[in-house]
Amino acid sequence: MRFILAAAAAATALTATSALADGHAEKCLVDQTDPFELSEEQVIDLYACMEAKMVAGYTKGDSTIAAEYRSWTNSATRPAVAGAHGERFLQTFANDVAAEQYLKFEDEGVVMPAGSILAKESIKLGKEGKPARVGPLFIMEKLAAGEAPDTGDWFYSGVQPNGKPLKIKQSFCHDCHVGWEDSDMLAYPVEEVRVSTN
Ligand code: HEC
Repeated sequence: MRFILAAAAAATALTATSALADGHAEKCLVDQTDPFELSEEQVIDLYACMEAKMVAGYTKGDSTIAAEYRSWTNSATRPAVAGAHGERFLQTFANDVAAEQYLKFEDEGVVMPAGSILAKESIKLGKEGKPARVGPLFIMEKLAAGEAPDTGDWFYSGVQPNGKPLKIKQSFCHDCHVGWEDSDMLAYPVEEVRVSTN
């Protein structure tokens, strides 16, 4: 184990040096392939390494949400892995319309106001020895009442790490999110990372 750690550290040092030559090319290596096994410290380090890459990728296209979400309210103390969304590390930001209600993390009787937007960053660990990768920015936007009856008036979308729109079917996202109908389709971050609003 000690050897693997040292090897990973050496590799990081190596790529970090070469990264000086080509901007954001620093590789984010983690001595772990199972996302559920990372320590809190490892997750924080991983996020610090991936942060600029995510923003740079999502904003390559013309998504206004990608350009804005970092100024919204962060709902979590750090990214966490919930299992859904491809075992990626997830961190959700809420816009001003959504923030007050979303950060209550209520389970019942929730009705999000129209204009609410949740944007969720994602990071995927690399396979053995491979660096972590930026995953899509997942987005849920609450429309006016009656605008999208099949999806509880939510519009699902996403931005790929190259800035292009994610190609998805509304039903693909909604068929899972409908499991949280009592909280207006919201699943929320895992409990241990939810920000406290008290
Ligand atoms: C297999 C189930 C599943 C599918 C399919 C799914 N999600 Fe999620 N989604 C979740 C879970 C679980 C969470 C909460 C976990 C977390 O964010 O840490 C979540 C959270 C979210 C959030 C943050 C708001 C919230 O619910 O708290 C957004 C935005 C989101 N998903 C968008 C999408 C989009 C867009 C798609 C389709 C491309 C999608 N989801 C497909 C399970 C799913």
